[in-house]
Amino acid sequence: MADAFSAVTIGPVTLRNRFIRSGANEMMTKDSLPTRALLELHRNLAKGGVGMTTLAYVAVSRDGRTFASQGVLDERAIPHYRAITEAVHEQGAKISAQITHAGSFVQHKELSTRRAMSASGGIDMMGVMMGRFLQHEMTRADMDKVVAEFVATAQRAAEAGFDAVELHMGHGYLLNQFISPLSNKRRDEYGGSAENRARFPAEVLAAVKRAVGDKLAILAKINLMDGVPKGATVEDAIATARALEAAGADMLVLSAGRNIESSWQIFGSPLPYDDMSKMQPGLLSKLQFAMLKMSTPKSLTFHEMFLLEAARRLRAAVRMNLAYLGGVQARDRAEAALDEGFNAIVIARALVHDPDLINKFQADPAFHSGCTACNRCVAMMYGPAGTFCPVTNNALDPALNQMQAAHAA
Ligand SMILES: Cc1cc2nc3c(=O)[nH]c(=O)nc-3n(C[C@H](O)[C@H](O)[C@H](O)COP(=O)(O)O)c2cc1C
Ligand code: SF4
Repeated sequence: MADAFSAVTIGPVTLRNRFIRSGANEMMTKDSLPTRALLELHRNLAKGGVGMTTLAYVAVSRDGRTFASQGVLDERAIPHYRAITEAVHEQGAKISAQITHAGSFVQHKELSTRRAMSASGGIDMMGVMMGRFLQHEMTRADMDKVVAEFVATAQRAAEAGFDAVELHMGHGYLLNQFISPLSNKRRDEYGGSAENRARFPAEVLAAVKRAVGDKLAILAKINLMDGVPKGATVEDAIATARALEAAGADMLVLSAGRNIESSWQIFGSPLPYDDMSKMQPGLLSKLQFAMLKMSTPKSLTFHEMFLLEAARRLRAAVRMNLAYLGGVQARDRAEAALDEGFNAIVIARALVHDPDLINKFQADPAFHSGCTACNRCVAMMYGPAGTFCPVTNNALDPALNQMQAAHAA
């Protein structure tokens, strides 16, 4: 059987083992700069044995933010992110920055334009809650600007000491708004077939690769499927993967689901919408969570490795490096996935539950995560302490709250 503790090389970077902490929005930023709590969280993950940790998620511009407080990797942020990358490197791990543009998935009122932009125009589903009713179809000039923003952010990530960048092309963010037929209704060469819908994300990746590919590993997170009728399918994901392989991606992280239409697909288990609703002030956002609850399939129950069937189909279709993600809780199943040809194992919740998980896997190959896949950590994301597992941690820890109030550097 494969050894998950063997080193792996991804582009210009070698990881000490195959375990990568997935991008899982920590909500540990203040004025769009990382806090001391974010630094300590990633230091602990590195101490806990991961080969690489992923810092989530950094916007490529102020208009690219999903949340008003979200980190933006601009010039002033570089020393703060450098403090985090140095803390991780001291523990022998690597660190990747997940970089995003929200497109029309914007949950704040600070946009510099009247309308949010997306692959296509039409009703702005998120904007409605903030009085923005329509979104704007991106022009060539908008697309060129976004390419330049991704490139500049990746260059600053290299300057700040990151080892990799992960371009977020899943879950309904801007690049996914191009890939998914749910949001891409364009009639030009960027819409229609799966190949056309993957064209702009592949152009962004190719530009980032040209700019920093010798210094950073270039990863992309894509959806295996959206999981709802008329959404992207595994066949679409295969076309996307081929386009990204040709554009020079060093590895793809395979996920599923869209934040608005099918968020349960991201997790393979229902979300605690009642708890999430309580964390939101506005009546409209409460209504949104009630609708999300109603649209979750009643029969949904969590299974470990819940994306493996779909991931296998993609594994069979391309030669490039692929990382398995989704419901990893035990070392033997992770190693079985490596035996099937996946190159790395990406984990979110089991590492939110216990940042020391990988050391425990190494000390005891039969160790099993205690994460229950209840997704209460997703609700906690919206609270003052940022993301944590309420099953294992005390949110009211005064030291943590103090660290949330201080910037990283
Ligand atoms: C609290 C929380 C926050 C998350 N935030 C992000 C994010 O910022 N970016 C992202 O790509 N995925 C995010 N995810 C999804 C995870 O990265 C991962 O795709 C999903 O949880 C399935 O992996 P798992 O079964 O190992 O948890 C988040 C997950 C959790 C639990
Ligand atoms: S709250 Fe804790 S136990 Fe529940 S899914 Fe999140 S990490 Fe796992």
